[in-house]
Amino acid sequence: MMQKRLEGKVAIITGAASGIGEETVKLFVENGAFVIAADIQDELGHKVADSIGSEKVTYHHCDVRDEKHVEETVNFALEKHGRVDVLFSNAGIIGSLSGILELDLGEFEKTMATNVVGTAAMIKHAARAMVEKKIRGSIICTTSVSASVGGTGPNGYTTSKHAVLGLVKSACSELGGYGIRVNSISPYGIATPLSCRAYNLEPHEVEASTYCNANLKGVVLKAKHIAEAALFLASDEAVYISGHNLVVDGGISVVRNTTTLEHV
Ligand SMILES: NC(=O)c1ccc[n+]([C@@H]2O[C@H](COP(=O)([O-])OP(=O)(O)OC[C@H]3O[C@@H](n4cnc5c(N)ncnc54)[C@H](O)[C@@H]3O)[C@@H](O)[C@H]2O)c1
Repeated sequence: MMQKRLEGKVAIITGAASGIGEETVKLFVENGAFVIAADIQDELGHKVADSIGSEKVTYHHCDVRDEKHVEETVNFALEKHGRVDVLFSNAGIIGSLSGILELDLGEFEKTMATNVVGTAAMIKHAARAMVEKKIRGSIICTTSVSASVGGTGPNGYTTSKHAVLGLVKSACSELGGYGIRVNSISPYGIATPLSCRAYNLEPHEVEASTYCNANLKGVVLKAKHIAEAALFLASDEAVYISGHNLVVDGGISVVRNTTTLEHV
């Protein structure tokens, strides 16, 4: 029988209607968690919850840019399940691909509002609930390889993901005193609606591009690999891990492209 690594825990997952969030909802429920799946794509979000077919998952509308929505989502989890053990703050947008010379500052601000302000609001309200109930919870934020290096995404996106990394360190420092762990996950390119739409590519083309540029060969990076990283950080197996940025990029951010070197 499969070991359930989140048995009885209550998790809020944002960006849950699609891609990485959707895979994580499924994996968390399989592992015994009660999940509030939060997103702005209501139809898709309900579909995800229905397809899982378990009372353990509930879709809830939440626009992370609106603090009232965020507070209300945390309250909804408290009313329904009495506690919040895990926050996976994963909702994000990539924004316009324009370069710095043509930077659209309105687009830049929109990206910051979702990726940074939204994440800050989620951490604030989920952590308040954890502190109030004396829960030694786990907060996980999705960043990106664009949180550590430039040139892998648009300006607004790269800036926002660097900022989320700062937020994780700052929140980790403060929340450690309450026994709350705060970590991030930095994925490399995955075929989800976010990347396919941004680069105007089919899923197989995104996967081929990641595979071709990747350092690690023999594996195609999928959303489920990020869900597995989130499961680890959410579970008690990661009981002393806090302030960590779990990079799921097959090594691309720390090595030069060896494929290129072979031909030098
Ligand atoms: N796909 C990749 O290559 C990749 C790589 C690194 C990091 N990421 C990050 O992973 C996270 C998930 O993205 P994904 O690739 O699964 O994309 P996705 O588009 O499949 O999922 C993102 C979800 O976030 C939701 N969302 C957007 N704005 C929101 C808001 N204001 N409030 C609530 N929900 C909102 C969307 O509706 C969508 O369901 C993002 O933070 C993204 O930056 C993705």
